[in-house]
Amino acid sequence: MISIFFSLLIIGLSVGAEDLPPLFDIEDYYSCESQQGVYCKVDINLQANNEASGLAQEIKISLADKHKFNRSSLHRMICIAKETYQNRTVEEYLTDLSKRKLERFNVSLTVANLECNEDLPFQFYDVFTIIFCVSYLMMVYQSYDVRRDDLKTPVSKYDKWFKIFSMRHNWRAIVRTNTNSDYVNLKSLDYKIFVIGYKVSTKFHKEV
Ligand SMILES: *[C@@H]1O[C@H](CO)[C@@H](O)[C@H](O)[C@H]1NC(C)=O
Ligand SMILES: *[C@@H]1O[C@H](CO)[C@@H](O)[C@H](O)[C@H]1NC(C)=O
Ligand SMILES: *[C@@H]1O[C@H](CO)[C@@H](O)[C@H](O)[C@H]1NC(C)=O
Repeated sequence: MISIFFSLLIIGLSVGAEDLPPLFDIEDYYSCESQQGVYCKVDINLQANNEASGLAQEIKISLADKHKFNRSSLHRMICIAKETYQNRTVEEYLTDLSKRKLERFNVSLTVANLECNEDLPFQFYDVFTIIFCVSYLMMVYQSYDVRRDDLKTPVSKYDKWFKIFSMRHNWRAIVRTNTNSDYVNLKSLDYKIFVIGYKVSTKFHKEV
């Protein structure tokens, strides 16, 4: 059910420029728990080195509009195997990892708001997952919004929401080939939410 809901919300997801790092990414924390990894929530703040790059432009646009997600900050929930960061701190490890992953975007970055489950119980992350998902859906909605702006067609708020749930519109959106990273990511997020939802519900049933 949850999965179907999120599938429906995949709609019209084409986020302006094609080549941008995804704003959100969540790794599965139940498998992290079972492999005794450290699960961390982290923001990666970006500073584009090349003002002319697509990412730099996108950041500029997002900062100018308070209704848009701040593209200069990426949000991640990451599982780290204990042996991978060894003598480094988690922060140093994540900084290195992010630099490697974002190399092609030519950015300087800093890691911020790092919280790991060494200090917090795993249950705490359920709440974050929900917040993440809601944020993600808002971004999807926003992406749709961006496209409407391009078309210079005035539409009411309600009209937009109707479009989001419209079969015809959804069908067109699904038919349109979409390979951008946010879309691909959302598809896997959809699956992860389904798995997490399933695990939470079975856990709940066991306890009851
Ligand atoms: C990154 O951007 C700077 C500033 O525009 C430029 O000098 C440099 O060559 C770029 N590096 C890469 C790897 O593209
Ligand atoms: C966007 O995010 C960056 C990094 O977190 C922050 O420094 C900046 O103030 C934010 N800008 C706005 C307009 O929220
Ligand atoms: C961690 O250890 C490796 C060798 O095992 C060494 O090359 C590296 O410099 C060390 N890093 C830090 C931050 O101490």
